[in-house]
Amino acid sequence: MIRIENLSRKFEVGNQIVRALDHIDLEITKGEYISIMGVSGSGKSTLLNILGLLDTPTKGDYILSGINTSEMNDDEMAHIRSTKIGFVFQSFHLIPRLTAAENIEMPMVLAGIKPKDRQEKVEIALSHVSLNDRSDHKPEQLSGGQRQRVAIARSIVMEPDVLLADEPTGNLDSTSGIEIVRLIEDLNKAGLTLIVVTHDRKLGNRSDRLIRLLDGKIINDNVK
Ligand SMILES: Nc1ncnc2c1ncn2[C@@H]1O[C@H](COP(=O)(O)OP(=O)(O)OP(=O)(O)O)[C@@H](O)[C@H]1O
Ligand SMILES: [Mg+2]
Repeated sequence: MIRIENLSRKFEVGNQIVRALDHIDLEITKGEYISIMGVSGSGKSTLLNILGLLDTPTKGDYILSGINTSEMNDDEMAHIRSTKIGFVFQSFHLIPRLTAAENIEMPMVLAGIKPKDRQEKVEIALSHVSLNDRSDHKPEQLSGGQRQRVAIARSIVMEPDVLLADEPTGNLDSTSGIEIVRLIEDLNKAGLTLIVVTHDRKLGNRSDRLIRLLDGKIINDNVK
């Protein structure tokens, strides 16, 4: 489903060059559960952003479902991002003035799905994360764990093939964290490809495959 070949991402800041990703090869099969670990600055978020088409490599190839992403134009990339890829971030990234239901609805609004078709999908997504009774709450009226559940509902409402989570439990206490982990693991068991960046060794050890980055290179790739 995903193939990365000799991929590098350089950043130039002033006269300094940062090799955030340095000649990476990686293959990911549909339905896998992968965690990505590594010290701060090792390139984890850069890799996730490239996988999610939020960023593009400086060199090398990213082949997604048989198509080389370097041959896609902006519209094609945006379409794949909105229909095939779900994102969850450490800091939730919810829109503060919208309710939980409206936040979850947003990807469908952007994709041009009709209002009457959206309602049912919002309900289903809310029940997936057990938040039907909080649908009218704004983010500030929800706990951290509930906010992350809204973010997960939003990320799956378009029924993506892959869920990319960048430290999804980083801002949560351990009880809410484990709830979130179980939730995304259940989605994986139902067929969603799951890729989680984490600093938490316990969380990293739960996955079927653990990839370690250091200085933009893959130093370990263990399938359990
Ligand atoms: N937009 C940018 N411009 C310049 N340098 C960047 C940019 N984004 C990332 N970098 C650099 O690339 C390297 C990798 O960054 P990245 O955010 O991928 O690390 P990370 O492994 O996610 O770290 P953390 O655990 O702290 O989130 C870092 O050295 C960082 O300074
Ligand atoms: Mg990061």
